[in-house]
Amino acid sequence: MNGLFITIEGPDGAGKTTVLNELYPRLQMIANSEIVKTREPGGVMIAEKIRQIILNPEHQQMDERTEALLYAAARRQHLVEVILPALNAGKIVICDRFVDSSLTYQGAGRRIGMKEIAQINEFATEGLTPDFTLYLDVDSDTGLRRIHRSRTQEIDRLDLEGLEFHQRVRHAYLKLAEENPARIHRIDAKASLQEVVDSSFSAIVEANPKYFKRGE
Ligand code: TMP
Repeated sequence: MNGLFITIEGPDGAGKTTVLNELYPRLQMIANSEIVKTREPGGVMIAEKIRQIILNPEHQQMDERTEALLYAAARRQHLVEVILPALNAGKIVICDRFVDSSLTYQGAGRRIGMKEIAQINEFATEGLTPDFTLYLDVDSDTGLRRIHRSRTQEIDRLDLEGLEFHQRVRHAYLKLAEENPARIHRIDAKASLQEVVDSSFSAIVEANPKYFKRGE
């Protein structure tokens, strides 16, 4: 494998998707190879179907371990169909969420335990870890306010969780970032969109000089 695997993570309302949409064309202009932009849960037909089952607000009776296994199952299918072939072809993959989301949401948010979640994800990914992770950090009050204010965004089953759930998720992200300083780069997502995009862009390019031409 000689591609580059980048993930973008953050609590709900951090603005990941908007930032990624702005970043993608800028990065593509200076990338030495094709960039594949994808997301989890989803990215391929089977995983998108699993996403609909997980996030449907009517599925209130879903057991938390069922939820964790479904995320891992969607991840496996997406990995095999999209991520691994792209990395094997030397491409740059930028994925909106990956295993860190399961560690924080199911491990900490649902209180299953980060170790347990790491184990099922080790099985699903055979140990594939991102080369670089951009973590967009936002406090839970701001994140939740942003989700509920945005009329374009559909409210899913996890968005309906209360403040404490989202605070556990955020603390787990901060812990992961502290434990993995070489991989996870924290960005303050309360700044303006332009500032967040600019600092995300610089962080990615500076950390991966082999894959991007400098001096855009
Ligand atoms: P999205 O809003 O970034 O598309 O993600 C959908 C929801 O799924 C979001 O609330 C985070 C949640 N999620 C998990 O709980 N575990 C996971 O492993 C992933 C990938 C997402």
